[in-house]
Amino acid sequence: MKQDMIVILDMGGTNNTVLARQIRSLGVYSEIHPHDITVDEIHALENVKGIILNGGENRIVDGQAVDVRAELYESGYPMISVDHPTSRCEKQYENLPDDERLKEFVFGQCGAEPNWNMKNFVEDQAELIRRQVGGRKVLLALSGGVDSSVVAALLLKAIGQQLVCVHVNHGLMRKNESESVVEVFKNQLHANLVYVDATERFLGKLAGVADPEEKRKIIGGEFIRVFEEEARKLDGIDFLGQGTIYPDIIESGTKTAKMVKSHHNVGGLPEDLQFELVEPLKQLFKDEVRACGIELGLPAHMVYRQPFPGPGLGVRCLGAITRDRLEAVRESDAILREEFEKAGLDKKVWQYFTVVPDFKSVGMKNHERCFEYMVIVRAINTIDAMTADVEKVDWEVLDKITKRILEEVGNVNRVCYDMSPKPPATIEFE
Ligand code: XMP
Repeated sequence: MKQDMIVILDMGGTNNTVLARQIRSLGVYSEIHPHDITVDEIHALENVKGIILNGGENRIVDGQAVDVRAELYESGYPMISVDHPTSRCEKQYENLPDDERLKEFVFGQCGAEPNWNMKNFVEDQAELIRRQVGGRKVLLALSGGVDSSVVAALLLKAIGQQLVCVHVNHGLMRKNESESVVEVFKNQLHANLVYVDATERFLGKLAGVADPEEKRKIIGGEFIRVFEEEARKLDGIDFLGQGTIYPDIIESGTKTAKMVKSHHNVGGLPEDLQFELVEPLKQLFKDEVRACGIELGLPAHMVYRQPFPGPGLGVRCLGAITRDRLEAVRESDAILREEFEKAGLDKKVWQYFTVVPDFKSVGMKNHERCFEYMVIVRAINTIDAMTADVEKVDWEVLDKITKRILEEVGNVNRVCYDMSPKPPATIEFE
């Protein structure tokens, strides 16, 4: 292994990630592990230079005050504790230590080297993947999102043709998105990629379904079924690659975080189709995943792609999905993306998209009365998607987008700009 590591043990903290990022900002890799890790498991991580017990403000896991295994205190690793009262660590802090104190521990007491960078991370992970997988095969659902694309590129580097990617086009992708997945992974990187066009199947199941959560359930459930069918056609697969990243792993102190909408990932595969997981990005934060993608040579448009919900355009074609409105969402979204890129807004705005409601309004086209759909444009900025503000898009840019949508998109006679922050509005409409 090329990188030294400081291990943070989660003693109920809500700020483990803050601490991990603080250590990584010193150039030293840091991972968060559960408090009940064994010494053997720590040895197996290799290159562990020191351990921090972090109680954070909670100091409690599942309602219980916890401690690490006694053997850990005897293990000889340099150890400090933060908000976890124990007489068995050399130093104890009541709050997260500042950079100076942390440096003293990391570089002084632990003797760690500042050798955390993406090149070393990629090489270490490739080595770990090869050790885990050996000569066997890994299956990966490649959606084209940042996380699955980066995992695909990393697995490809590590095990080449032992990786089988499956891309399910549910017909709710943005314009040219599935094509781009095929172009990059099949044509350029020569990955073993199975492309499944399941558009008709998804649209058939969704016909007449207007309730958003019901739509999500259908899309998520059908996705698993299509993926499962493809998996059954393949022989000798033992592993499932997943683009789990650190923010997907909930800290013990935030277990009660409320879920407003059901988000779907590939999970829920049937019992007889259980695989061992390969999750090489599970210790990375989003910006680090992007840096990893760039290190692996993925194109910037894939790595800096804005967030896109799993149910795709399905939750932007409001109410029961119809093909004409789905096309209107797809085409208007493509125009919006093109114009935002020209105006440099794609690098500034966090998420931007169009929505087509399921009602019509009166308009005039070629001196005649028409009754057609409207396109709503939304552009928002946020840090954590919990609250969001509307981007003050330049009037001329909005004017150009409006003109193009009215000219180029069929069945549309009106364009609106959504001015609502979150809360009270959510980012998506459904
Ligand atoms: P809301 O609408 O809840 O969105 O304010 C917050 C963020 O989550 C995305 N989103 C989803 N992502 N599956 C996903 O993978 C979903 O069902 C889903 N619904 C919303 C949304 O695009 C925004 O970035």
